[in-house]
Amino acid sequence: MDKLAIEGGVPLSGEVAISGAKNAALPILTAALLTAEPLTITNVPHLRDVTTMLSLLAQMGVVVSVDEKMGIELCAANISNPEAPYEMVKTMRASVLVLGPLVARFGEARVSLPGGCAIGLRPVDQHLKGLQAMGATITMDHGYMIARASRLKGARICMDLVTVTGTENLMMAATLADGVTVIENAAREPEIPDLAACLTAMGAKIGGAGTDVITIEGVTKLHGARHAVMPDRIETGTYLVAAAVSGGKVRATGAKPGTLDAVLNKLREAGANVEAGEDWVSVQASGRLKAVNLRTAPYPAFPTDMQAQFLTLNTVAEGTGVVHEDIFENRFMHVQELQRLGADIEVDGNTAVVKGVAALDGATVMATDLRASASLVIAGLVARGTTTVDRIYHLDRGYESIEEKLSRLGARIKRVS
Ligand code: EPU
Repeated sequence: MDKLAIEGGVPLSGEVAISGAKNAALPILTAALLTAEPLTITNVPHLRDVTTMLSLLAQMGVVVSVDEKMGIELCAANISNPEAPYEMVKTMRASVLVLGPLVARFGEARVSLPGGCAIGLRPVDQHLKGLQAMGATITMDHGYMIARASRLKGARICMDLVTVTGTENLMMAATLADGVTVIENAAREPEIPDLAACLTAMGAKIGGAGTDVITIEGVTKLHGARHAVMPDRIETGTYLVAAAVSGGKVRATGAKPGTLDAVLNKLREAGANVEAGEDWVSVQASGRLKAVNLRTAPYPAFPTDMQAQFLTLNTVAEGTGVVHEDIFENRFMHVQELQRLGADIEVDGNTAVVKGVAALDGATVMATDLRASASLVIAGLVARGTTTVDRIYHLDRGYESIEEKLSRLGARIKRVS
């Protein structure tokens, strides 16, 4: 199993090219199920989760190919098996995104129930409730959710809570429904307007994506299209935090800083100097940062996917930072690992109180989920001596070529088996 060995103490410096967003690419790939014509997606990041999604789609009968411009072409003309099996859903919960498109176009979907995962329970009741409101019948069969509908009907759906993939699933389902669907209390994450842009290019009629009320006028058929995935805001934020904590200067290019306000403001509050243009953002810091308090919440507030990285920032900052995790109930798995490096953190329920220490000391730590692994890599970049991050397959789910990108910024990092 691969590990990353990091020798800390180098301030990062230079430019890093940001990849396409994992959490935009995954739903956009499943949108291919909504049409019999080819959908071409560009700027798709090379990640384990993307490979898993492509295997899942191929297993259903989607023909996947890479065109001459490195676009991924998907053609769902013939679907033989409208099912997401347990083995896939278990490794990637985003597999549930096939549910809406399958039932909308083929009238049937069989998706394994996801069960728990490393960051919390993560139920999918809102996805199912929305589909039922559109007229689907849902039955449970040996751990599988089976959704059926001869044709979905437009409905007014008020989500009980803000869910990103729930909103995406229902938005996709509604594109082929009979009549108008209104999703209230919809998630506003930037990946949703990106998906809506792709669906619109395919002929869907969607208004309000990016606000908390999305209106979709169903059409009978969608067609092929070409769409470029937006830049990854969490990857961008992760490199910016790494740069700031290391006391370096890094410019992220091909980024979309307009999707990162809460993160950039926190970096400024920590004492980093942040500058941004239309498609780039740079950070520079010297000396010790100041600890920051934060609370995770749906967009545009502070993202849960940046919580672990900022928690690491606090471990070596001046003062005490209080971190509240309000999205997932079990997203502090990195704390115990950071403590092994000498961090002073106390967790009480969904609150972590982090007292900055003068330095961390390298040790072997274990990655438990994607963002937790990123926080451990950042810790390794500033710790004294060598930090070995074990189980980095978690990292490969969401960070394209991370060791190459960090090496180019001067980090002493290598992958070892
Ligand atoms: N929830 C329910 N019922 C539902 C759906 C969600 O109770 O039917 C709860 C969840 O348990 C959680 C909260 O609602 O407590 C929000 O979950 P959400 O559904 O928004 O999360 P998700 O759609 O499963 C996406 C990202 C996550 C990111 C969250 C929150 C994708 C593929 N995944 O997950 O990304 O943390 O939104 O922003 O878009 C990551 O990239 O590391 C990652 C975990």
